[in-house]
Amino acid sequence: MALLASVFVGTSVDGFIARLDGTFDFLDAGGSEPHGYEEFMATVDALVIGRNTYEVVLAFGGWAYGNKPVFVLSTHPLAPAPAEAIVEHMSGDPADIVAQLTARGIQHIYVDGGITIQRFLRAGLIQRLIITRVPVLIGSGIPLFGALPHDILLKHVATRQYTGGLVQSEYTVGV
Ligand SMILES: NC(=O)c1ccc[n+]([C@@H]2O[C@H](COP(=O)([O-])OP(=O)(O)OC[C@H]3O[C@@H](n4cnc5c(N)ncnc54)[C@H](OP(=O)(O)O)[C@@H]3O)[C@@H](O)[C@H]2O)c1
Repeated sequence: MALLASVFVGTSVDGFIARLDGTFDFLDAGGSEPHGYEEFMATVDALVIGRNTYEVVLAFGGWAYGNKPVFVLSTHPLAPAPAEAIVEHMSGDPADIVAQLTARGIQHIYVDGGITIQRFLRAGLIQRLIITRVPVLIGSGIPLFGALPHDILLKHVATRQYTGGLVQSEYTVGV
């Protein structure tokens, strides 16, 4: 069965996933009310995250991903993971990464981190985007999206609104 790759991400209304210094305090502007993260995580076999996201998660203390396997992409050695974390270092072409994960029987990955999401999108390897817009403009920061060699058509699946002001849109890619 083909591997499904999903993105589940929070952004400012002006499209940033973090401030330039990597902090994302602004995501609380929607009151942090539940918006499907736990339910989404329950459907995921593994995460594929960029080194920058990994380092931010490490700095939280504790470990955010429970017993889900987390594949951290980097061309450098990784900082050590907490004892309870299941972390594996990978590097390379997104297509090769997806092929390796597929060969290991993984069916649904959660791709996270701005640069990582952009590389997978450019390679045509993301099938689903769930983007939660938080009611704030921050002016500058780390963008969710970047340059593309060509347009990527999206199909709108649903938009959900939450009382605290979060607006979540779900799309499938390229259909
Ligand atoms: N708002 C949200 O929901 C949300 C979600 C996730 C992250 N964030 C925030 O976003 C920021 C991180 O995003 P980011 O855009 O800076 O980067 P990122 O995608 O987390 O990390 C980028 C790094 O990952 C490595 N990488 C990516 N693809 C690779 C590949 N195919 N092969 C080898 N290495 C690869 C490279 O590391 P090397 O330089 O080591 O090679 C690259 O510099 C953090 O501040 C985080 O807190 C926010």
